[in-house]
Amino acid sequence: MNNIKACIFDLDGVIVDTAIYHYKAWRRLANSLGFDFTEQQNEQLKGVSRVRSLEIVLQAGGITKTDAEKDQLAAQKNAWYMEMVNQMTPAEILPGAREFVQSCRDAGIKTALGSASKNSMTILEKLQIVHLFDAIIDGNKVTKAKPDPEVFLKGAEALSIEPKYCVVFEDAIAGVEAAKAGGMKAIGIGDPKVLYEADLVVSGLNEMTLDKL
Ligand code: BG6
Ligand code: MG
Repeated sequence: MNNIKACIFDLDGVIVDTAIYHYKAWRRLANSLGFDFTEQQNEQLKGVSRVRSLEIVLQAGGITKTDAEKDQLAAQKNAWYMEMVNQMTPAEILPGAREFVQSCRDAGIKTALGSASKNSMTILEKLQIVHLFDAIIDGNKVTKAKPDPEVFLKGAEALSIEPKYCVVFEDAIAGVEAAKAGGMKAIGIGDPKVLYEADLVVSGLNEMTLDKL
C-alpha cells in the first residue's frame, strides 16, 4: 500500500464506539413495541443506515408498519439515541484515534470522515475533533448506503485525491466492501475473520502507524 495521499475514516466503531448507544435506543424501541432485541441481533445493524436498521428491528419482532409509522419510529429512536450522544465527551474517543488522524495530517496526508450517520457532525463536535478532518461526508450528503462506494468517492472528490491513492478505515463488512467497490484500499478495524476482504486488519487505530499504509 504505498503512495497513500488520503485517509478516509468511518466514525462509528472506528473513531468512537457509539454502537452501545445505538443498541440501547433500538432495544428501547423494540421494548416499547412489546419485544426484546438482543446485543447479538444488534450486530446486524453496524454500518447499516437508520431506515434499514429499523426494518431489521421490526422484522426481528415480526412487526409490520406503514411508511408514516416507520418515520415516526425512526425519529423516536433517534431522539433516544441523541439523548445519549449529547452526554458524550472527548474521553470517549477510541484509543489511538486522535493520535493517528493527527499523525496523518502531520505527514501531509489528507483526512476525511466517511460515515452513514446523519448525526456525525454533532458527534464530532461533542468529541471536539471537527478540525481533524479536511472533509466531512456523512449520511446527509449521500443517497446510497454502504456497500455502495458513494460516501467514500465523495470524500475522495472533496479532497481532490484519486480513489487509488485513498485508504479507508472501516469496522463494518459493508464499509470494507464499499471501499473496495470504490477502487480504494481498506484497513479493517476488528476481527480479521470477519473483515477478510480488507487489505489489512488491526484491532484499533492504536495499532496503526504510518509505515503500515
Ligand atoms: C452507522 C452506524 O455509522 O450510522 C449504524 O454504524 C447507524 O449503526 C448509521 O445506523 C446511521 O446513523 P444515524 O446516526 O444517522 O442514525
Ligand atoms: Mg462503523
